[in-house]
Amino acid sequence: MIQQWIPILPSVLLEPKEVIQAFVQDIEVVIWRSEQGRVQIWENRCPHRSVRLSLGEVHGESLICAYHGWQFSADHGQCQRIPAQPTQRVPSTLCSTTYAVAEHDGMIWFGGHSHENQSLDMPQSSSYHHYAGSVHLQGDLTDIQQVLSAWGTQIAPWQWQLTQADLDAMLWLTPIQQDQAMLHMMKHSSHSLADAFHRLQKIRDQIENKQEISYV
Ligand code: FES
Repeated sequence: MIQQWIPILPSVLLEPKEVIQAFVQDIEVVIWRSEQGRVQIWENRCPHRSVRLSLGEVHGESLICAYHGWQFSADHGQCQRIPAQPTQRVPSTLCSTTYAVAEHDGMIWFGGHSHENQSLDMPQSSSYHHYAGSVHLQGDLTDIQQVLSAWGTQIAPWQWQLTQADLDAMLWLTPIQQDQAMLHMMKHSSHSLADAFHRLQKIRDQIENKQEISYV
C-alpha cells in the first residue's frame, strides 16, 4: 500500500497524446495524456490478453490497445468499444486497472489504488518551475536518500531542496525498485540549465560510485 504521493514524471515530459511506460515501487504502469490534457496512470496490462497498454495509441480521451483495438476511456479506465463486436454492449465492469494521479508543482504524482489514497497528503507547492533534467540512479534506495540528505534538506518523503550557494533547486526522487530510482531536478530561472544538469550528474556519480561528497 502506498504511504504517500510519489512523484513519477515531470509534467513537461508528457505531451498530449503521448504514452509512456514507467515503473514505480516495482509496479509497471502506463502514463498517458489525453488530447484535452488529462493525465492517467494505469496498470500497464490490457485486461483482454495482457498486452502492454503502453504500446497503444491515444484517440481523444481514450487509450486504444495495440493488439485488438479495445478502447479504454480516461473516465475510470472503462472499456467503451470492442471492434470485433461492434453491435454488442460492453459490460460496465470491463475496465483497465487505474491508479490515483495528480499533477502538482510541475510533476505527475502516483497515488496507488484510488481507494487507498484518501488520506494521502500532497507536498506544498514550491517555486521551482524550470525543469533541468532527470537521471537514472542505480543503488540502494536508503543509500540514495542518505546521499540526497547530505546534498540538501529533505522536505517531503521524496523531495529535497538543494541548499547550495550557487544553485537553488528542488530534487524529486521516483523509487523504481529497491535498487533503482529516477532523480528529477527543477530550478529557478536564474540558474543556467547546463550548470544545473551538471550538478545533477555529479549527484548521480557520487551515489553510484560512492564518492566522497564534493559540492562543486
Ligand atoms: S490484448 Fe488488448 S485488446 Fe486484446
